[in-house]
Amino acid sequence: MKFFVDTADVAEIRALADLGLVDGVTTNPSLIAKSGRKIAEVIAEICTITPGPVSAEVTATDFEGMMAEGKYLRDIASNVAVKVPLTEAGLKTCRALSSEGTQVNVTLCFSAAQALLAAKAGATFISPFVGRLDDIGHDGMQLISDVVTIYNNYPAITTEVLVASVRHPIHLIEAAKMGAHVATLPANVIKMLVKHPLTDRGLEAFLADWAKTGQSIL
Ligand code: G3P
Repeated sequence: MKFFVDTADVAEIRALADLGLVDGVTTNPSLIAKSGRKIAEVIAEICTITPGPVSAEVTATDFEGMMAEGKYLRDIASNVAVKVPLTEAGLKTCRALSSEGTQVNVTLCFSAAQALLAAKAGATFISPFVGRLDDIGHDGMQLISDVVTIYNNYPAITTEVLVASVRHPIHLIEAAKMGAHVATLPANVIKMLVKHPLTDRGLEAFLADWAKTGQSIL
């Protein structure tokens, strides 16, 4: 399973890249706004940190505007994946850009029907938002299960399921059990994955017993 980091905070990305945990990065207009930086500048920097796909989202809502912005964003670096919303204009843009060899991440997906349309439009990635479905009392992971099942029925579909809006480790584990290709994780969720109280307690006990030997390895 590929881990993407869901942030435009380059310090967070660098720290996680040092752990070997960054297979790509996803951003969105809200994350760019939070970074306080110009989109071209921050995406360019992120693209130097990881060779993996870096999603940069258009903000136009019409086809012509999305195409113009998408071409601008893809020219920032060869590993930019252009992100488009799951709308008619977004699907049309996805078809056009993907047919030119550009990676496209279709985002704001909340139904299996939408995910099927994105695959037919040639999306590289589909981003179903599990956390936002959970937030309104729907079952976000059921959407992932449905999309993975549907995609697996058709070998011709090469679109990768990129689980997004991840709130906690259970989302990740369940997505991995279902065979989702990618999860995009906020940095704090990645940090949650590492921690277990029994690991901490076990290490403490090992070191206490080791101290009693009076030895040092070096
Ligand atoms: O970036 C796409 C998605 O991961 C956003 O998630 O946390 O804003 O619901 P969130």
